[in-house]
Amino acid sequence: MKILVTGGAGFIGSQVAQAYLQAGHRVTILDDLSTGKQENLPPEAEFVRADIASPQAAELVARGGFGLINHHAAQISVPASVADPVDDAHSNVMGLLNLLEAGCRAKLERFIFVSSGGAVYGEMEGAPVDESFPARPMSPYAVAKLSGELYLDYYAAQHGLSSVVLRYANVYGPRQIPHAEAGVVAIFMDCLVDGHEPTIYSPEDLPGGMKRDYTFVGDVVRANLAALERGQGVYNIGTGVASDTLTIWEAVKKAAGREMAHHMGPARAGDIRYSALDCAKAARELGWRPDYDLARGMAETWAWRQRR
Ligand SMILES: NC(=O)c1ccc[n+]([C@@H]2O[C@H](COP(=O)([O-])OP(=O)(O)OC[C@H]3O[C@@H](n4cnc5c(N)ncnc54)[C@H](O)[C@@H]3O)[C@@H](O)[C@H]2O)c1
Repeated sequence: MKILVTGGAGFIGSQVAQAYLQAGHRVTILDDLSTGKQENLPPEAEFVRADIASPQAAELVARGGFGLINHHAAQISVPASVADPVDDAHSNVMGLLNLLEAGCRAKLERFIFVSSGGAVYGEMEGAPVDESFPARPMSPYAVAKLSGELYLDYYAAQHGLSSVVLRYANVYGPRQIPHAEAGVVAIFMDCLVDGHEPTIYSPEDLPGGMKRDYTFVGDVVRANLAALERGQGVYNIGTGVASDTLTIWEAVKKAAGREMAHHMGPARAGDIRYSALDCAKAARELGWRPDYDLARGMAETWAWRQRR
């Protein structure tokens, strides 16, 4: 199949593009290199440097003959979306619509949209949630992701576009950059390499810090392979295990075989306290389950960090 991967110079999209190439597909990557890197681009992929919201991107989709778009390109920082919601919506709403409109004119068959389970549900209640949990987006980033999901419902109903929404948990692994949506693993590894002791932010009743569902990028890539042909609608992609920040710091140090002190700091306003995803639907309908536990994922990530 001929596939367009947007955001394919980024942390996750580049590894999805690589996996699609390895599975025998033809891949074009559309990325403006705003956070992505040229060195992440698989050499066998065609590369077009453009903003997803631009006329050039619409032209590429209209004439490219793609069977499927896998949409990873996005403004990915929650604080940046709070500081400038218009800029966030430029990529995360207008960019998506630009691709969908051009895709429908070109009789595109299928669309994989990457959303965020960590963001769209908002605060959870201490147990993993499934896709029926009410969405309570708490940032412009989350509002834009949720609106993207609703647009896909509209395009399915109005234009018959089949689509899968993958709501990722906190993804970590090789190629992650520290400022990203869930960059704490990359931040901690940088601390060990640079010799800066990290600060762990925690409210009084959560001494190890906020709890999150940390999911290895290799597992996320396999979900994108499964979604090529299977599934319709929204799927959580995570592990269902909530780890606090202190546990992640311990796992990073263990993978690196190094010791370092850390500091504790007060919780930051707006940080979600608990987030974990129940992924039974993805297991049932996509045949997908995570393979990696924290120890194995951290070991692979550290091995990459040392080679960098
Ligand atoms: N990393 C996580 O934990 C996580 C969790 C949930 C969802 N996501 C989603 O996964 C996707 C990939 O995120 P990532 O962590 O790999 O981040 P990333 O920054 O590495 O990748 C995003 C890519 O999109 C490109 N891009 C951004 N705006 C663009 C635009 N307007 N036009 C063209 N290209 C543009 C960037 O250059 C970059 O290569 C995003 O949609 C993000 O919202 C990530």
